[in-house]
Amino acid sequence: MELAGHLAQQGELVAFPTETVYGLGADALNKEASKKIYAAKGRPSDNPLIVHVADFDAIHKIVKEVPQDAEKLAKAFWPGPLTMTFFKNDQVPDETTGGLNTVAIRMPNHKVALEFIRAAGGYIAAPSANTSGRPSPTLAEHVYEDMKGKIPMILDGGQVGIGIESTIVDFTGDEISILRPGYITKEMIEKVLDKKIIIDPAVDGSDPNAKPKAPGMKYRHYAPKASLSLVEGSSDAVREKMLSLAKEAVANGQRCGIMATKERLKDFENLDESIRKGLVLKELGHEDDEASVARELYLVLREFDKEEVHVIYSESFADEGVGKAIMNRLIRAAGHQVIKAD
Ligand code: TXA
Ligand code: MG
Repeated sequence: MELAGHLAQQGELVAFPTETVYGLGADALNKEASKKIYAAKGRPSDNPLIVHVADFDAIHKIVKEVPQDAEKLAKAFWPGPLTMTFFKNDQVPDETTGGLNTVAIRMPNHKVALEFIRAAGGYIAAPSANTSGRPSPTLAEHVYEDMKGKIPMILDGGQVGIGIESTIVDFTGDEISILRPGYITKEMIEKVLDKKIIIDPAVDGSDPNAKPKAPGMKYRHYAPKASLSLVEGSSDAVREKMLSLAKEAVANGQRCGIMATKERLKDFENLDESIRKGLVLKELGHEDDEASVARELYLVLREFDKEEVHVIYSESFADEGVGKAIMNRLIRAAGHQVIKAD
């Protein structure tokens, strides 16, 4: 930890675990350090970084003003998977915020992350520690796959608990809005604030002309190498459709990946050997436990990249609660390819 803090204070990059995904950290107040993050990830320079802090008072040193509602959310959810945006002051270099006059801040709920932030001086800029466009890392091994030879240190904290990135709430517009859905849901936020908030219209991607306020949401993300399609509809129809798509793919000589919850995978395990041998089955958590789906999502997408599959079919999930965050990631991974089963 001492070495990690020292490296960050010298302007070097250190990858570290958080409760959501692994972050690629650098001193947020050092513009040369921030630039190294963009270079290591191959990230477009207009895509701003999240500044991670380890205590509540730290935010006052880098923002102009903290609205009361933001204070309430910090009290309710920090440390935790919630990021909030504010108008920044001159302490935060433009390199960290992709040229914006606002800054996104979060306090992660992970002992290693908090210790590292403190050891490094209190302000760590960190995007997810993947190469730009690849699934976010949920294991230190994933960071190593993408970053080996590019950064001096990875702090290994094992598999992360949540598995998808934090919810981003914007406090710099006319209305409080969610820029990226995550584990902290709209309903949870509305309950604390005792009022309705909006979801940025660009979030679900249904309007191609809507310009997302979180620049990162406009880039193609998380895409596996094989063509991924989501199968949507009522439970029985999805079962029939996924089975027939799998059979058809194998009949055409393709290797076919299936992403589904443990319960649904059973349908594929018992297929005739002539079909079964052309399938690669990956378990995506449990049917009655959305958190387990979120935890495995990126790991499964990365595993498919190591398999020689041509096509992947995935079950889709209810677009509410944590499911909204899961679907937001899955739809992007699938490049919006959705097959209606009904
Ligand atoms: O859970 C997380 O948030 C993880 C861990 C490491 O903390 N970090 C993460 O960072 O997901 P990244 O860089 O992969 O995603 C940050 C997102 C991007 O979509 C970016 O455009 C948006 O946050 N963002 C950052 N600063 C912003 C700002 N000032 N205004 C609007 N969006 C901002
Ligand atoms: Mg990312």
